[in-house]
Amino acid sequence: MPGGVKADVRTYQMYVNGEWVDSKSNKTFPVYDPATEEVIAQVPEANADDVNRAVAAARAAFDNGPWASTTAQERGRVLFRLADKIRQNAGMLTELESRNTGKPIVEAEFDIADVSTCFEYYGGLATKILGYVNPVPDNAVSLTLKEPIGVAGQIIPWNYPLLMAAWKLAPALAAGCTCILKPAEQTPITALEMAKWFAEVGLPPGVVNVITGLGESCGAPLVQHPDVNKIAFTGSAAVGKIIVKQAADTVKRVTLELGGKSPNIFFADADFEAAIDGALFGVFINQGEVCSAGSRILVQKPIYKKFVDAMTEKAKKIKLGAPLDRDTKMGPLVSKDQYDRVRSYQELGKKEAKLAIGGGRADKFAKGYYLEPTIFYDVTNNDRIAREEIFGPIAAVIPFEDEKDALKIANDSPYGLAAAVWTRDIFKAFRVVKSLRAGVVWVNHMQPTYVEAPWGGYKQSGFGRELGPWGIEEYLETKQVHINLNEAPIGWY
Ligand code: NAI
Ligand code: MG
Repeated sequence: MPGGVKADVRTYQMYVNGEWVDSKSNKTFPVYDPATEEVIAQVPEANADDVNRAVAAARAAFDNGPWASTTAQERGRVLFRLADKIRQNAGMLTELESRNTGKPIVEAEFDIADVSTCFEYYGGLATKILGYVNPVPDNAVSLTLKEPIGVAGQIIPWNYPLLMAAWKLAPALAAGCTCILKPAEQTPITALEMAKWFAEVGLPPGVVNVITGLGESCGAPLVQHPDVNKIAFTGSAAVGKIIVKQAADTVKRVTLELGGKSPNIFFADADFEAAIDGALFGVFINQGEVCSAGSRILVQKPIYKKFVDAMTEKAKKIKLGAPLDRDTKMGPLVSKDQYDRVRSYQELGKKEAKLAIGGGRADKFAKGYYLEPTIFYDVTNNDRIAREEIFGPIAAVIPFEDEKDALKIANDSPYGLAAAVWTRDIFKAFRVVKSLRAGVVWVNHMQPTYVEAPWGGYKQSGFGRELGPWGIEEYLETKQVHINLNEAPIGWY
Protein backbone atom coordinates (compact mmCIF):
# COMPACT_ATOMS: atom_id res chain seq x y z
CA MET A 1 0.00 0.00 0.00
CA PRO A 2 1.29 3.51 -0.77
CA GLY A 3 2.44 5.94 1.91
CA GLY A 4 2.81 3.33 4.63
CA VAL A 5 -0.95 2.91 4.74
CA LYS A 6 -1.94 -0.41 6.28
CA ALA A 7 -4.23 -2.89 4.62
CA ASP A 8 -6.94 -2.59 7.29
CA VAL A 9 -7.40 1.12 6.64
CA ARG A 10 -11.05 1.69 5.92
CA THR A 11 -12.03 3.91 3.06
CA TYR A 12 -15.23 5.83 3.63
CA GLN A 13 -17.55 7.74 1.41
CA MET A 14 -19.81 10.45 2.73
CA TYR A 15 -23.60 10.54 2.87
CA VAL A 16 -25.35 13.11 0.71
CA ASN A 17 -28.95 13.03 -0.47
CA GLY A 18 -29.31 9.41 0.62
CA GLU A 19 -26.31 8.27 -1.42
CA TRP A 20 -22.73 7.35 -0.61
CA VAL A 21 -20.45 9.63 -2.55
CA ASP A 22 -16.82 10.65 -2.88
CA SER A 23 -15.88 14.30 -2.74
CA LYS A 24 -16.28 16.04 -6.09
CA SER A 25 -12.54 16.62 -6.20
CA ASN A 26 -11.96 12.93 -5.31
CA LYS A 27 -9.60 14.13 -2.61
CA THR A 28 -9.45 12.30 0.71
CA PHE A 29 -7.70 12.88 4.01
CA PRO A 30 -6.40 10.45 6.64
CA VAL A 31 -7.87 9.72 10.05
CA TYR A 32 -5.55 8.55 12.83
CA ASP A 33 -5.43 6.34 15.88
CA PRO A 34 -3.73 8.67 18.38
CA ALA A 35 -2.41 5.75 20.46
CA THR A 36 -0.49 4.18 17.56
CA GLU A 37 -0.15 7.28 15.35
CA GLU A 38 -1.28 5.08 12.47
CA VAL A 39 -3.79 5.93 9.79
CA ILE A 40 -7.03 4.01 10.38
CA ALA A 41 -9.24 5.48 7.70
CA GLN A 42 -9.42 7.66 4.64
CA VAL A 43 -12.44 9.92 4.25
CA PRO A 44 -13.56 12.28 1.49
CA GLU A 45 -12.29 15.83 1.69
CA ALA A 46 -15.35 17.91 0.98
CA ASN A 47 -15.02 21.48 -0.24
CA ALA A 48 -17.48 24.18 -1.30
CA ASP A 49 -18.77 22.09 -4.24
CA ASP A 50 -19.71 19.28 -1.91
CA VAL A 51 -21.24 21.72 0.54
CA ASN A 52 -23.40 23.06 -2.30
CA ARG A 53 -24.56 19.55 -3.17
CA ALA A 54 -25.40 18.72 0.45
CA VAL A 55 -27.19 22.02 1.05
CA ALA A 56 -29.23 21.58 -2.13
CA ALA A 57 -30.30 18.13 -0.91
CA ALA A 58 -31.22 19.38 2.56
CA ARG A 59 -33.05 22.38 1.09
CA ALA A 60 -35.09 20.20 -1.28
CA ALA A 61 -35.89 17.73 1.50
CA PHE A 62 -37.11 20.57 3.66
CA ASP A 63 -39.00 22.64 1.07
CA ASN A 64 -40.76 19.96 -0.93
CA GLY A 65 -39.50 16.57 0.21
CA PRO A 66 -41.46 14.07 2.29
CA TRP A 67 -39.93 15.35 5.52
CA ALA A 68 -41.99 18.54 5.37
CA SER A 69 -45.19 16.49 5.49
CA THR A 70 -44.01 13.90 8.02
CA THR A 71 -46.00 13.95 11.23
CA ALA A 72 -44.39 14.58 14.59
CA GLN A 73 -45.30 11.01 15.55
CA GLU A 74 -43.41 9.63 12.58
CA ARG A 75 -40.40 11.85 13.22
CA GLY A 76 -40.39 10.58 16.79
CA ARG A 77 -40.51 6.97 15.63
CA VAL A 78 -37.59 7.53 13.27
CA LEU A 79 -35.53 8.77 16.20
CA PHE A 80 -36.58 5.81 18.37
CA ARG A 81 -35.52 3.41 15.62
CA LEU A 82 -32.18 5.17 15.29
CA ALA A 83 -31.68 4.96 19.07
CA ASP A 84 -32.34 1.20 18.89
CA LYS A 85 -29.87 0.72 16.05
CA ILE A 86 -27.19 2.53 18.00
CA ARG A 87 -27.88 0.44 21.09
CA GLN A 88 -27.73 -2.79 19.05
CA ASN A 89 -24.39 -1.71 17.59
CA ALA A 90 -23.00 -0.04 20.70
CA GLY A 91 -19.99 -2.36 20.90
CA MET A 92 -18.77 -1.50 17.42
CA LEU A 93 -19.38 2.23 17.86
CA THR A 94 -17.73 2.28 21.28
CA GLU A 95 -14.60 0.61 20.01
CA LEU A 96 -14.31 2.91 17.00
CA GLU A 97 -14.89 6.00 19.12
CA SER A 98 -12.26 4.92 21.63
CA ARG A 99 -9.71 4.05 18.92
CA ASN A 100 -10.23 7.27 17.00
CA THR A 101 -10.31 9.74 19.92
CA GLY A 102 -7.96 7.96 22.31
CA LYS A 103 -10.52 8.12 25.09
CA PRO A 104 -10.74 5.17 27.52
CA ILE A 105 -13.20 2.60 26.26
CA VAL A 106 -15.19 2.71 29.50
CA GLU A 107 -15.81 6.42 28.90
CA ALA A 108 -16.72 5.75 25.27
CA GLU A 109 -19.33 3.25 26.50
CA PHE A 110 -21.03 6.00 28.49
CA ASP A 111 -20.90 8.31 25.47
CA ILE A 112 -22.51 5.83 23.10
CA ALA A 113 -25.21 4.96 25.65
CA ASP A 114 -25.92 8.70 25.94
CA VAL A 115 -26.21 8.93 22.15
CA SER A 116 -29.13 6.49 22.22
CA THR A 117 -30.70 8.26 25.16
CA CYS A 118 -30.47 11.58 23.35
CA PHE A 119 -32.23 10.29 20.23
CA GLU A 120 -34.91 8.71 22.42
CA TYR A 121 -35.44 11.86 24.45
CA TYR A 122 -36.00 13.97 21.35
CA GLY A 123 -38.05 11.21 19.74
CA GLY A 124 -40.44 11.66 22.65
CA LEU A 125 -40.25 15.44 22.51
CA ALA A 126 -41.21 15.57 18.82
CA THR A 127 -44.89 15.18 19.77
CA LYS A 128 -44.69 17.75 22.57
CA ILE A 129 -43.89 20.85 20.57
CA LEU A 130 -46.75 23.05 21.67
CA GLY A 131 -48.07 26.39 20.49
CA TYR A 132 -50.03 28.99 22.42
CA VAL A 133 -53.34 30.80 22.30
CA ASN A 134 -52.48 34.45 22.93
CA PRO A 135 -54.99 36.43 25.04
CA VAL A 136 -55.45 39.38 22.66
CA PRO A 137 -58.22 41.86 23.53
CA ASP A 138 -60.16 41.71 20.24
CA ASN A 139 -62.79 39.40 18.79
CA ALA A 140 -60.14 37.20 17.33
CA VAL A 141 -58.13 34.08 17.92
CA SER A 142 -54.42 34.75 18.22
CA LEU A 143 -52.11 31.78 17.94
CA THR A 144 -48.42 31.16 18.33
CA LEU A 145 -47.20 28.36 16.09
CA LYS A 146 -43.82 26.69 16.36
CA GLU A 147 -42.22 25.75 13.05
CA PRO A 148 -38.87 24.25 12.07
CA ILE A 149 -36.16 26.79 11.22
CA GLY A 150 -35.32 24.93 8.02
CA VAL A 151 -31.88 23.76 6.96
CA ALA A 152 -29.40 23.43 9.80
CA GLY A 153 -25.63 23.29 9.36
CA GLN A 154 -24.03 21.52 12.31
CA ILE A 155 -20.31 21.74 12.96
CA ILE A 156 -18.98 19.60 15.76
CA PRO A 157 -15.70 18.88 17.58
CA TRP A 158 -13.61 15.77 18.20
CA ASN A 159 -13.83 15.28 21.95
CA TYR A 160 -17.23 13.52 22.02
CA PRO A 161 -17.76 12.86 18.30
CA LEU A 162 -20.96 10.83 18.11
CA LEU A 163 -22.47 12.40 21.22
CA MET A 164 -22.02 15.89 19.79
CA ALA A 165 -23.60 14.66 16.56
CA ALA A 166 -26.59 13.40 18.57
CA TRP A 167 -26.92 16.66 20.55
CA LYS A 168 -27.19 18.46 17.22
CA LEU A 169 -29.16 16.04 15.05
CA ALA A 170 -31.75 14.80 17.55
CA PRO A 171 -33.43 18.13 18.40
CA ALA A 172 -33.14 19.36 14.81
CA LEU A 173 -34.91 16.29 13.42
CA ALA A 174 -37.54 16.28 16.16
CA ALA A 175 -38.28 19.90 15.23
CA GLY A 176 -38.62 18.98 11.54
CA CYS A 177 -35.42 20.55 10.26
CA THR A 178 -33.08 18.99 7.72
CA CYS A 179 -29.37 18.82 8.45
CA ILE A 180 -25.87 18.98 7.10
CA LEU A 181 -23.55 17.55 9.73
CA LYS A 182 -19.84 18.27 9.51
CA PRO A 183 -17.89 16.15 11.98
CA ALA A 184 -14.44 17.26 13.11
CA GLU A 185 -11.74 16.22 10.65
CA GLN A 186 -9.95 14.25 13.39
CA THR A 187 -12.99 12.06 14.21
CA PRO A 188 -15.51 11.60 11.39
CA ILE A 189 -15.82 7.81 11.52
CA THR A 190 -18.64 7.07 13.95
CA ALA A 191 -20.95 9.63 12.33
CA LEU A 192 -20.35 7.94 8.97
CA GLU A 193 -21.05 4.55 10.52
CA MET A 194 -24.31 5.86 11.98
CA ALA A 195 -25.32 7.27 8.60
CA LYS A 196 -25.43 3.69 7.26
CA TRP A 197 -28.71 3.25 9.18
CA PHE A 198 -30.40 6.50 8.19
CA ALA A 199 -32.37 5.10 5.25
CA GLU A 200 -33.35 1.95 7.13
CA VAL A 201 -34.77 3.86 10.12
CA GLY A 202 -36.85 6.00 7.78
CA LEU A 203 -34.94 9.19 7.11
CA PRO A 204 -35.75 10.22 3.52
CA PRO A 205 -32.88 11.26 1.22
CA GLY A 206 -31.48 14.70 1.98
CA VAL A 207 -32.84 14.95 5.52
CA VAL A 208 -29.47 14.27 7.11
CA ASN A 209 -26.30 14.71 5.09
CA VAL A 210 -22.90 13.95 6.59
CA ILE A 211 -19.98 15.67 4.89
CA THR A 212 -16.38 15.23 5.93
CA GLY A 213 -13.95 18.05 5.47
CA LEU A 214 -11.69 20.61 7.05
CA GLY A 215 -12.73 23.76 8.86
CA GLU A 216 -11.86 26.45 6.38
CA SER A 217 -12.60 24.59 3.16
CA CYS A 218 -15.78 22.80 4.27
CA GLY A 219 -17.06 24.35 7.52
CA ALA A 220 -16.73 27.95 6.33
CA PRO A 221 -18.70 27.54 3.05
CA LEU A 222 -21.44 25.84 5.06
CA VAL A 223 -21.61 28.83 7.40
CA GLN A 224 -21.73 31.25 4.46
CA HIS A 225 -24.27 29.37 2.36
CA PRO A 226 -27.44 31.45 1.77
CA ASP A 227 -29.71 28.39 1.81
CA VAL A 228 -28.65 27.36 5.29
CA ASN A 229 -30.94 28.87 7.93
CA LYS A 230 -29.06 28.02 11.07
CA ILE A 231 -25.57 27.06 12.22
CA ALA A 232 -25.03 25.10 15.41
CA PHE A 233 -21.39 24.99 16.43
CA THR A 234 -19.33 23.45 19.20
CA GLY A 235 -15.61 24.11 19.20
CA SER A 236 -13.00 26.75 19.86
CA ALA A 237 -13.77 30.33 20.82
CA ALA A 238 -11.57 31.50 17.94
CA VAL A 239 -13.68 29.70 15.33
CA GLY A 240 -16.91 30.66 17.12
CA LYS A 241 -16.05 34.32 16.61
CA ILE A 242 -15.36 33.75 12.90
CA ILE A 243 -18.69 31.95 12.55
CA VAL A 244 -20.68 34.78 14.10
CA LYS A 245 -19.09 37.22 11.65
CA GLN A 246 -19.56 34.98 8.63
CA ALA A 247 -23.15 34.17 9.53
CA ALA A 248 -24.01 37.87 9.70
CA ASP A 249 -24.21 38.34 5.92
CA THR A 250 -27.15 35.99 5.64
CA VAL A 251 -28.56 36.71 9.12
CA LYS A 252 -28.37 33.08 10.10
CA ARG A 253 -29.52 31.84 13.43
CA VAL A 254 -26.43 30.76 15.32
CA THR A 255 -25.87 28.80 18.50
CA LEU A 256 -22.38 28.40 19.91
CA GLU A 257 -20.80 26.23 22.58
CA LEU A 258 -17.23 27.41 22.96
CA GLY A 259 -15.78 25.76 26.00
CA GLY A 260 -14.30 27.58 28.94
CA LYS A 261 -12.02 27.78 31.90
CA SER A 262 -14.38 26.48 34.51
CA PRO A 263 -13.70 27.01 38.23
CA ASN A 264 -13.99 24.04 40.58
CA ILE A 265 -14.26 25.66 44.02
CA PHE A 266 -13.37 23.83 47.24
CA PHE A 267 -14.26 25.32 50.61
CA ALA A 268 -12.47 24.12 53.74
CA ASP A 269 -15.61 22.42 55.08
CA ALA A 270 -16.03 20.14 52.02
CA ASP A 271 -15.81 16.37 52.41
CA PHE A 272 -12.07 16.07 51.84
CA GLU A 273 -11.85 12.69 50.11
CA ALA A 274 -14.80 13.43 47.84
CA ALA A 275 -13.23 16.79 47.05
CA ILE A 276 -9.91 15.29 45.94
CA ASP A 277 -11.73 12.83 43.70
CA GLY A 278 -13.90 15.60 42.32
CA ALA A 279 -10.95 17.85 41.58
CA LEU A 280 -9.15 15.11 39.63
CA PHE A 281 -12.24 13.84 37.83
CA GLY A 282 -13.26 17.39 36.93
CA VAL A 283 -10.06 18.08 35.02
CA PHE A 284 -8.63 14.72 33.91
CA ILE A 285 -11.70 12.94 32.58
CA ASN A 286 -11.42 12.42 28.80
CA GLN A 287 -7.73 13.50 29.09
CA GLY A 288 -9.02 16.96 30.00
CA GLU A 289 -10.42 17.40 26.49
CA VAL A 290 -13.74 18.56 27.88
CA CYS A 291 -15.42 21.90 27.28
CA SER A 292 -16.55 22.04 30.91
CA ALA A 293 -13.26 20.82 32.38
CA GLY A 294 -12.73 22.10 35.92
CA SER A 295 -9.33 23.40 34.91
CA ARG A 296 -9.16 26.17 37.54
CA ILE A 297 -9.15 24.49 40.94
CA LEU A 298 -9.85 27.08 43.63
CA VAL A 299 -8.98 25.87 47.13
CA GLN A 300 -9.58 27.67 50.42
CA LYS A 301 -6.36 28.44 52.29
CA PRO A 302 -6.80 26.33 55.46
CA ILE A 303 -6.86 23.12 53.37
CA TYR A 304 -4.74 24.34 50.47
CA LYS A 305 -1.44 22.61 51.18
CA LYS A 306 -3.04 19.34 52.25
CA PHE A 307 -5.27 19.50 49.16
CA VAL A 308 -2.40 19.94 46.69
CA ASP A 309 -0.49 17.10 48.35
CA ALA A 310 -3.48 14.75 48.33
CA MET A 311 -4.31 15.57 44.70
CA THR A 312 -0.73 14.93 43.72
CA GLU A 313 -0.60 11.58 45.54
CA LYS A 314 -3.83 10.42 43.96
CA ALA A 315 -2.87 11.68 40.49
CA LYS A 316 0.14 9.35 40.60
CA LYS A 317 -2.31 6.44 40.54
CA ILE A 318 -4.17 7.54 37.41
CA LYS A 319 -3.62 4.71 34.98
CA LEU A 320 -2.51 5.85 31.55
CA GLY A 321 -2.84 3.18 28.92
CA ALA A 322 -4.18 1.91 25.66
CA PRO A 323 -7.66 3.32 25.03
CA LEU A 324 -9.14 -0.14 24.48
CA ASP A 325 -7.82 -1.47 27.80
CA ARG A 326 -10.68 -1.49 30.32
CA ASP A 327 -8.40 -0.43 33.20
CA THR A 328 -7.22 2.70 31.41
CA LYS A 329 -8.25 5.99 33.00
CA MET A 330 -6.39 8.27 30.58
CA GLY A 331 -5.49 7.67 26.94
CA PRO A 332 -3.54 9.78 24.47
CA LEU A 333 -4.70 13.20 23.32
CA VAL A 334 -6.70 13.18 20.12
CA SER A 335 -4.09 14.43 17.66
CA LYS A 336 -0.54 15.61 17.16
CA ASP A 337 -1.81 19.20 17.00
CA GLN A 338 -3.63 18.94 20.28
CA TYR A 339 -0.68 17.17 21.88
CA ASP A 340 1.68 19.95 20.76
CA ARG A 341 -0.71 22.65 21.97
CA VAL A 342 -1.11 21.11 25.43
CA ARG A 343 2.59 20.24 25.64
CA SER A 344 3.41 23.92 25.14
CA TYR A 345 1.10 24.86 28.01
CA GLN A 346 3.00 22.42 30.21
CA GLU A 347 6.16 24.42 29.51
CA LEU A 348 4.37 27.74 29.97
CA GLY A 349 3.01 26.55 33.33
CA LYS A 350 6.51 25.77 34.56
CA LYS A 351 7.40 29.43 34.01
CA GLU A 352 4.21 30.82 35.52
CA ALA A 353 3.64 28.62 38.59
CA LYS A 354 4.89 25.66 40.60
CA LEU A 355 4.72 22.12 39.27
CA ALA A 356 3.33 19.45 41.61
CA ILE A 357 3.29 16.53 39.20
CA GLY A 358 3.60 15.75 35.50
CA GLY A 359 4.73 18.36 33.05
CA GLY A 360 5.81 16.21 30.16
CA ARG A 361 5.09 13.38 27.81
CA ALA A 362 4.21 10.04 29.41
CA ASP A 363 7.41 8.37 28.28
CA LYS A 364 6.53 4.77 29.03
CA PHE A 365 4.73 4.72 25.67
CA ALA A 366 6.89 4.29 22.60
CA LYS A 367 4.19 5.83 20.42
CA GLY A 368 1.07 7.86 20.88
CA TYR A 369 0.12 11.35 22.01
CA TYR A 370 0.28 10.58 25.73
CA LEU A 371 0.78 13.39 28.21
CA GLU A 372 1.19 13.11 31.95
CA PRO A 373 -1.59 14.40 34.14
CA THR A 374 -0.14 17.72 35.21
CA ILE A 375 -0.92 19.82 38.30
CA PHE A 376 0.35 23.36 38.76
CA TYR A 377 -0.17 25.14 42.10
CA ASP A 378 0.33 28.65 43.41
CA VAL A 379 -1.20 29.74 40.11
CA THR A 380 -2.61 33.26 40.01
CA ASN A 381 -5.77 33.98 38.09
CA ASN A 382 -3.80 36.32 35.82
CA ASP A 383 -1.51 33.57 34.58
CA ARG A 384 -2.19 32.40 31.06
CA ILE A 385 -2.67 28.83 32.30
CA ALA A 386 -5.58 30.19 34.36
CA ARG A 387 -7.08 32.30 31.59
CA GLU A 388 -6.76 30.29 28.38
CA GLU A 389 -8.59 27.10 27.54
CA ILE A 390 -5.96 24.36 27.34
CA PHE A 391 -8.17 21.34 26.60
CA GLY A 392 -5.83 18.78 28.00
CA PRO A 393 -4.77 17.21 31.31
CA ILE A 394 -3.50 20.34 33.06
CA ALA A 395 -4.88 21.59 36.37
CA ALA A 396 -4.22 25.09 37.69
CA VAL A 397 -4.66 25.22 41.48
CA ILE A 398 -5.33 28.68 42.91
CA PRO A 399 -5.65 29.49 46.64
CA PHE A 400 -8.41 31.75 48.02
CA GLU A 401 -9.29 33.39 51.35
CA ASP A 402 -13.05 33.42 51.68
CA GLU A 403 -16.34 33.24 49.79
CA LYS A 404 -16.03 36.74 48.37
CA ASP A 405 -12.49 36.09 47.18
CA ALA A 406 -13.53 32.75 45.62
CA LEU A 407 -16.35 34.37 43.66
CA LYS A 408 -14.16 37.21 42.48
CA ILE A 409 -11.58 34.77 41.11
CA ALA A 410 -14.19 32.37 39.72
CA ASN A 411 -16.03 35.07 37.77
CA ASP A 412 -12.87 36.80 36.58
CA SER A 413 -12.71 34.95 33.25
CA PRO A 414 -13.84 35.70 29.72
CA TYR A 415 -15.61 32.33 29.82
CA GLY A 416 -18.69 31.16 31.68
CA LEU A 417 -19.60 27.63 30.67
CA ALA A 418 -19.55 25.72 33.94
CA ALA A 419 -18.51 25.84 37.59
CA ALA A 420 -18.66 23.64 40.65
CA VAL A 421 -18.70 24.34 44.37
CA TRP A 422 -17.88 21.90 47.17
CA THR A 423 -19.09 22.58 50.71
CA ARG A 424 -21.30 21.03 53.38
CA ASP A 425 -22.96 24.38 54.05
CA ILE A 426 -26.17 24.55 52.00
CA PHE A 427 -26.56 28.30 52.59
CA LYS A 428 -23.08 29.05 51.34
CA ALA A 429 -23.53 26.64 48.44
CA PHE A 430 -26.64 28.39 47.23
CA ARG A 431 -25.21 31.88 47.66
CA VAL A 432 -22.27 30.84 45.51
CA VAL A 433 -24.52 29.13 42.93
CA LYS A 434 -26.47 32.34 42.47
CA SER A 435 -23.38 34.52 42.14
CA LEU A 436 -21.49 32.38 39.65
CA ARG A 437 -21.68 33.63 36.05
CA ALA A 438 -21.88 30.23 34.38
CA GLY A 439 -24.46 28.28 32.43
CA VAL A 440 -23.99 25.03 34.37
CA VAL A 441 -23.23 24.83 38.11
CA TRP A 442 -22.64 21.66 40.07
CA VAL A 443 -22.69 21.36 43.86
CA ASN A 444 -20.49 18.63 45.36
CA HIS A 445 -19.90 17.08 41.95
CA MET A 446 -18.49 18.03 38.59
CA GLN A 447 -19.36 16.94 35.06
CA PRO A 448 -22.59 14.91 35.17
CA THR A 449 -24.62 15.93 32.14
CA TYR A 450 -28.17 14.92 31.32
CA VAL A 451 -30.19 15.18 28.15
CA GLU A 452 -33.09 16.43 30.30
CA ALA A 453 -31.21 19.52 31.53
CA PRO A 454 -29.96 22.57 29.58
CA TRP A 455 -26.34 22.90 28.45
CA GLY A 456 -24.59 26.07 27.34
CA GLY A 457 -22.57 29.03 28.47
CA TYR A 458 -22.53 32.62 29.68
CA LYS A 459 -20.14 35.25 28.35
CA GLN A 460 -17.63 34.07 25.72
CA SER A 461 -18.57 30.44 26.24
CA GLY A 462 -21.26 31.03 23.67
CA PHE A 463 -25.00 31.43 23.42
CA GLY A 464 -28.04 29.28 22.97
CA ARG A 465 -28.78 26.12 24.92
CA GLU A 466 -28.61 22.48 23.95
CA LEU A 467 -30.47 19.53 25.49
CA GLY A 468 -33.86 19.40 27.19
CA PRO A 469 -36.76 21.39 25.78
CA TRP A 470 -34.34 24.32 25.43
CA GLY A 471 -32.43 22.39 22.79
CA ILE A 472 -35.43 22.01 20.51
CA GLU A 473 -36.37 25.68 20.84
CA GLU A 474 -33.14 26.56 19.05
CA TYR A 475 -34.44 24.76 15.95
CA LEU A 476 -37.86 26.39 15.97
CA GLU A 477 -39.21 29.64 14.56
CA THR A 478 -42.17 31.37 16.14
CA LYS A 479 -45.12 32.34 13.95
CA GLN A 480 -47.89 34.59 15.16
CA VAL A 481 -51.31 33.94 13.57
CA HIS A 482 -54.26 36.31 13.94
CA ILE A 483 -57.72 35.03 13.01
CA ASN A 484 -60.29 37.80 12.82
CA LEU A 485 -63.75 36.71 14.02
CA ASN A 486 -65.60 39.91 13.02
CA GLU A 487 -67.41 39.27 9.78
CA ALA A 488 -68.02 43.00 9.15
CA PRO A 489 -65.56 45.36 7.39
CA ILE A 490 -63.01 47.10 9.62
CA GLY A 491 -65.01 50.32 9.16
CA TRP A 492 -62.01 52.66 9.13
CA TYR A 493 -62.70 54.46 5.85
P1 NAI B 1 -11.91 24.00 16.06
O1 NAI B 1 -12.82 24.98 16.70
O2 NAI B 1 -10.98 24.49 15.01
O3 NAI B 1 -12.77 22.79 15.45
C1 NAI B 1 -14.11 22.50 15.76
C2 NAI B 1 -14.90 22.30 14.48
O4 NAI B 1 -14.93 23.52 13.77
C3 NAI B 1 -14.31 21.26 13.53
O5 NAI B 1 -15.37 20.55 12.93
C4 NAI B 1 -13.61 22.13 12.50
O6 NAI B 1 -13.47 21.51 11.25
C5 NAI B 1 -14.54 23.31 12.42
N1 NAI B 1 -13.95 24.56 11.92
C6 NAI B 1 -12.67 24.98 12.06
N2 NAI B 1 -12.49 26.17 11.45
C7 NAI B 1 -13.68 26.52 10.90
C8 NAI B 1 -14.16 27.63 10.14
N3 NAI B 1 -13.35 28.64 9.83
N4 NAI B 1 -15.45 27.65 9.77
C9 NAI B 1 -16.28 26.65 10.09
N5 NAI B 1 -15.90 25.56 10.79
C10 NAI B 1 -14.62 25.49 11.19
O7 NAI B 1 -11.09 23.30 17.23
P2 NAI B 1 -9.63 22.64 17.15
O8 NAI B 1 -8.72 23.47 16.32
O9 NAI B 1 -9.79 21.23 16.81
O10 NAI B 1 -9.19 22.77 18.70
C11 NAI B 1 -8.61 23.98 19.17
C12 NAI B 1 -9.09 24.32 20.55
O11 NAI B 1 -10.48 24.52 20.52
C13 NAI B 1 -8.90 23.27 21.61
O12 NAI B 1 -7.63 23.30 22.15
C14 NAI B 1 -9.96 23.65 22.60
O13 NAI B 1 -9.48 24.68 23.44
C15 NAI B 1 -11.08 24.21 21.75
N6 NAI B 1 -12.16 23.22 21.54
C16 NAI B 1 -13.31 23.36 22.27
C17 NAI B 1 -14.31 22.42 22.15
C18 NAI B 1 -15.58 22.51 22.94
O14 NAI B 1 -16.18 21.50 23.26
N7 NAI B 1 -16.09 23.69 23.24
C19 NAI B 1 -14.17 21.24 21.29
C20 NAI B 1 -12.96 21.23 20.51
C21 NAI B 1 -11.99 22.18 20.67
MG1 MG C 1 -8.93 24.83 14.66
